[in-house]
Amino acid sequence: MRRLGDRIAVVALMLLLVAAVLRISWEPKPGSGAEGQIRHSGPAAVAVASVGMVGTSLRTLARARGIRIGAAVASGPLHGEPRYAEILRHEFNVVTPENAMKFEWVHPRQNVYAFSDADAIVAFARANDMQVRGHTLVWHVSLPRWLTGGNFTRSEMRDILREHIHEVVRHFRGQVEVWDVLNEAVADDGSLEKTIWLRGIGPEYIELAFRWAHEADPQARLFYNDNGGEGLGRKSDAIYSLIRGLVQRGAPIHGVGFQFHINPESPPNTRAVVANMDRLAALGLEVHVTELDVRIKKPVTEEKLDAQARIYGSILGACLSARNCRAFVMWGFTDRHSWIPLFFPGWGAGLILDEFYRPKPAYGALMDLLRER
Ligand code: XIL
Repeated sequence: MRRLGDRIAVVALMLLLVAAVLRISWEPKPGSGAEGQIRHSGPAAVAVASVGMVGTSLRTLARARGIRIGAAVASGPLHGEPRYAEILRHEFNVVTPENAMKFEWVHPRQNVYAFSDADAIVAFARANDMQVRGHTLVWHVSLPRWLTGGNFTRSEMRDILREHIHEVVRHFRGQVEVWDVLNEAVADDGSLEKTIWLRGIGPEYIELAFRWAHEADPQARLFYNDNGGEGLGRKSDAIYSLIRGLVQRGAPIHGVGFQFHINPESPPNTRAVVANMDRLAALGLEVHVTELDVRIKKPVTEEKLDAQARIYGSILGACLSARNCRAFVMWGFTDRHSWIPLFFPGWGAGLILDEFYRPKPAYGALMDLLRER
């Protein structure tokens, strides 16, 4: 029998250890450029403990509301930062590889496919009961040199695209349930973007892409995905008629992705967004919010974060109120890893957790809204 004093010492030691462990995991890791971030204390510090660890999560609440919630995932932090993976699996039930499935990454040379980064993301998703949104088969950005500098004939371009789609979709058959088949094919003025695919194959490349993807995995849900056509207007009208034409011709298309790379200075009109979702529902199509981020012009202030939270809430509200909106996916989840500072100089802080993985008001806005009945 141990003496009481010894036992107390052991228990005290254990408590100290537990406290040390909790402190380590609550403590923000140092990151680059945290200047200008709002520091959270008090209630927010309590919330920090629950994000990605214990307690309720966005995915649990979203499931009860009949939608999936997710984020784009970057390969580097998924493998390099345990906290990143931990939060991802706790909070979300759908992921989109941010870059790992793009043409340039999976098809770097004409006869070479490189799937390892994408495979790792798919394995992570499957291990954590998450859906994968494959992104993206046909786009005019992130293309390899061999293709852009290749001077191919029309029939060669057709063969290249068909083979690419077949190979990639077959590789992930049964594991990637949703594909953004075609990305950003419509210009702001409503015309078709003059891409390498339009110039190289002609406008029929669009319908062919959907048919080829369907051949490779008849179970996959196939989406058109674009930015700037979320509400009503010239671009969304053009997208709508393009999609309606595909539906009328019996092409295998199941949904439209609304990207939503937005900022609080020109917030979307959510009524128009719901009306746009509605007219797509009338065609029998689903919609997904696919790439939401709400960038803030620096410096970041409490007011701007609150305005950002209201916008996050309004987009989620639109998705919840539309009968055909089934997924709400953000283009990342932490300001530590976001494309915004690089692509929009002077802007940042577009996501729902800050650079130290602490929840911002936008995270609370999503939780509150999902809890509402
Ligand atoms: C962006 C990624 O976030 C960047 O890392 C990459 O360098 C370029 O592409 N619309 C899309 C996404 O459909 O694929 C883009 O992702 C953002 C805009």
